[in-house]
Amino acid sequence: MAVKKATIDTLLEEDRIFHPPEEFTQQANIKSREIYAEARANPKIFWAMQAERLDWFRKWDKVLEWNPPFAKWFVNGKLNACYNCIDRHLKTWRKNKAAIIFEGEPGDSRVLTYWDLYREVTRFANILKKLGVQKGDRVAIYMPMIPEAVVAMLACARLGAPHSVVFGGFSSESLRDRILDAQAKVLITADGGWRRGKIVPLKHNADAALAETPCVEKVLVVKRTGQEVSMLDGRDYWYHEMAEETPTGCPCEEVDAEDILFILYTSGTTGKPKGVVHTTGGYLVGTSTTHYMVFDIKDDDVYWCTADIGWITGHSYVVYGPLANGTTVLLYEGAPDWPNPGRFWAIVEKYHVNVFYTAPTAIRAFMKWGDEWPGRYDLSSLRLLGTVGEPINPEAWVWYHKNIGGERCPIVDTWWQTETGMIMITPLPGVTPLKPGSATVPFPGIEVDVVDKDGNSVMLGKGGFLAIKEPWPAMLRTIYGDDQRYVDTYWNKIPGKMLYFAGDGARRDYHNYYWILGRVDDVINVAGHRLSTMEVESALVDHPWVAEAAAIGKSHAIKGQAISVFVTLKAHAFEQLKSGARQRSEFQDELKAHVVKKIGAIARPDDVFFTAELPKTRSGKIMRRLLRDIAEGRALGDTTTLADPAVIAELKRKYESRES
Ligand code: PRX
Repeated sequence: MAVKKATIDTLLEEDRIFHPPEEFTQQANIKSREIYAEARANPKIFWAMQAERLDWFRKWDKVLEWNPPFAKWFVNGKLNACYNCIDRHLKTWRKNKAAIIFEGEPGDSRVLTYWDLYREVTRFANILKKLGVQKGDRVAIYMPMIPEAVVAMLACARLGAPHSVVFGGFSSESLRDRILDAQAKVLITADGGWRRGKIVPLKHNADAALAETPCVEKVLVVKRTGQEVSMLDGRDYWYHEMAEETPTGCPCEEVDAEDILFILYTSGTTGKPKGVVHTTGGYLVGTSTTHYMVFDIKDDDVYWCTADIGWITGHSYVVYGPLANGTTVLLYEGAPDWPNPGRFWAIVEKYHVNVFYTAPTAIRAFMKWGDEWPGRYDLSSLRLLGTVGEPINPEAWVWYHKNIGGERCPIVDTWWQTETGMIMITPLPGVTPLKPGSATVPFPGIEVDVVDKDGNSVMLGKGGFLAIKEPWPAMLRTIYGDDQRYVDTYWNKIPGKMLYFAGDGARRDYHNYYWILGRVDDVINVAGHRLSTMEVESALVDHPWVAEAAAIGKSHAIKGQAISVFVTLKAHAFEQLKSGARQRSEFQDELKAHVVKKIGAIARPDDVFFTAELPKTRSGKIMRRLLRDIAEGRALGDTTTLADPAVIAELKRKYESRES
């Protein structure tokens, strides 16, 4: 298993324990550990009780129908996610409570109450209807982090039309592939969004995708950045123009608990991203329950999760979980270091943020920028901090605890995935003692294990594969249009055992705490974002210069991992490189730019190394494991399966002396 010994050793040394402060426990939503025993004694009753926090149009007949690995939760229950996130709050004092506090990157701000959100969402839903959207139609969303992005998602949910949000940092080609896979009928986008003072040209990017997506009939464009964009007559419509002539007020579709709420694409181990399918009832129960218990959410909290809505964290913990709970959600459009590295802390001070949830990569960047930035602002409103997306190194944890949390805020390190939909391994901040670097223990009602390759539990202290043993309400139901891939990817890894295989390595310590050791498959986690080595490799071999390519994740101080690629050039290009007709940096820049064009800026390789040959097994499989050893400067692992052991020694020598 590809879990680094060095990682295990570092984590083993970490034995500091932080107990929940007594004042925190006294006011916590969950004050006692009894909830774990209760949930374990009867998980179905536990989840049925949690389902009561939602409004159902028709109550379910059965909590769970499990035909492994296909689950149905809250069978025959009828509800609407948008109704639960908005309409039901209007019957309470929350009608005029702030639902969204928006801070734009240029400094503009807006507050939408739940009543405002109702008006915006119902009008948006009516516009989508005019554009032909009906229950079951897929709608693609390619938006900046502005309130209309949330409004668009909720409007789709209101109509029972599954949305597929594509992160605004993805390229035209990535957008095209996702639109085609889901056969989206309508695309919602914006002219652009603000990022570090520059415009991200979303409509321009979308136009390139739309040239090859015949399924898209209409495009709705929100005006944000105001530059000139091209609008195709009969296909493209300005949102603000349609809004002028469209009334508010639109009934909610009654959907089945198992109707699709959304599809969200994520990288797997092949070049083709997977459309992870989430349904309505179980997902909303799972996200609202975890949001309430893990973030200890209170009605007077200002809650800020910094994730973009293009990722699962944005879906579950910016939109559905918090709004179902009637929370005040802060939404920020831009970068953490714009116009300076104090921006996040200025926002915390300005809005008196109480609960703050971000990623380890961001925390490491804050550390690098220096303690003086948070030190300039009043962060005393904060009472709880969270992290997600990758293992947090204990050093970053302790920095976060001290410099952001003033040593008074518990930190919830939450392990979960696009596929799990909801937080799975996490502290409950009022009851769980914390160990920096550990996501601690499974959430109540969740059964997790660390197993060997035969599916047997490994001993405490030993590393193994992280597996989930029982179905959970927010679990993915399938991969869109590909049930077989769903079965093979997650449930068939360990023959004869019905275990959900997460793709992560983990270790359990003697207190039964979980330590996540990173991916054990060909998925790279770059700044908390998932990419597959195959995706990057397919982008590279698509370039006319490239004969063969291997991508690996290499440790990076801020991003956790960065992409390094080893490339074999075709003869004509190799000649140019050798003869000096073209500079090496030119080749490198061109190939980096090509990957960005094919996938998006998050996939830009940090390093491109040219080599005449790649290390392969006798059957021709590239041995990325050995390339990782070379890139990390480690001694080479087992080389006995190599077809030609001379290749690797030569490659190592050249890599270290940086010639090729
Ligand atoms: O490797 C784990 C890592 O992120 C992966 C899931 O990525 P994604 O589907 O993009 O979702 C990220 C946000 C939920 C996992 O397989 N990961 C996520 N959270 C943690 C983590 N690794 C360690 N600790 C975490 N808290």
